[in-house]
Amino acid sequence: MKYLWANALLSLTGSASAIFTGHKLFDFRNIANPRVPDALPDWDSNKAARETHEYFLSREFTDTFAIMNWSKDVTETAPIRMTNSFNNIYIQPNTDPNPESSTFMTLRTVRHPDFQSAAEFQTHTSDYQHVAMTMRARTIGGPGAVTAMFTYWKPENSDWDAVQEADLEIRTAEPRNELRYTNQPSYDPVRDVERPDAFRDVTLPTVWTTWQTHRMEWTPGKVDWYVDGQFMTSISYQAPVDPAYLLWNVWSDGGVWSGEMPVYEHVEMHVQYIEIEYLG
Ligand SMILES: *[C@@H]1O[C@H](CO)[C@@H](O)[C@H](O)[C@H]1NC(C)=O
Repeated sequence: MKYLWANALLSLTGSASAIFTGHKLFDFRNIANPRVPDALPDWDSNKAARETHEYFLSREFTDTFAIMNWSKDVTETAPIRMTNSFNNIYIQPNTDPNPESSTFMTLRTVRHPDFQSAAEFQTHTSDYQHVAMTMRARTIGGPGAVTAMFTYWKPENSDWDAVQEADLEIRTAEPRNELRYTNQPSYDPVRDVERPDAFRDVTLPTVWTTWQTHRMEWTPGKVDWYVDGQFMTSISYQAPVDPAYLLWNVWSDGGVWSGEMPVYEHVEMHVQYIEIEYLG
């Protein structure tokens, strides 16, 4: 297997695309009956909410993805309790001047007076081992949230540092032309030290409040990142090894990583399409 990879990689100039023969496209650019649901005011209705659009009940979506509704309590380091809600994932009309699409998918997080509602969906299966993930997206709203695309795997009952995760995180409190890529864990809570080789803060060619095409290529031993076709960085330290889930989320828990959003503030990640290329 190693040799196959080496040969395939050597025969390529630049992108690893040719290796990924399996392909899925989730296209949110032209979906009928877009609708922006009002934020739900209370914890229970956010938890109990169901799909906001028939697209999220379609085989195209449900064969691959599941929307999450898990919640978490306040902790010492996360002072705002948070619940994911189906109500925060929806199809929105694109009202941009000269729009690139007629609709897009939105993942929203809302700061309520005494909790945060958030949005997350993931693949049903954790069988993506080496993958390219591409999305055309932007993030809007005030400081205090994280918007993310990542791979995730943690063996059951394993220690915190058994996690394998390659992620792209936009922190809305940070400058709009910066984001962070990490092969988790980036921090060692036992020794209380960061692992500087695990992450890179990069300066983007444009700001993330505008449409950008983000691409991750996870190949054996490294994760490469691109924005609008431009190479950003490659991280080999702690590159994921085992098959993983793929996830997208938008969240805040008032902790030091996300920051705390002002009450009633929204942060949204808009996504025109997601492309998943895998070993077919
Ligand atoms: C969360 O979503 C699942 C389906 O994905 C549903 O069965 C469950 O009832 C929901 N939880 C709550 C508290 O409504």
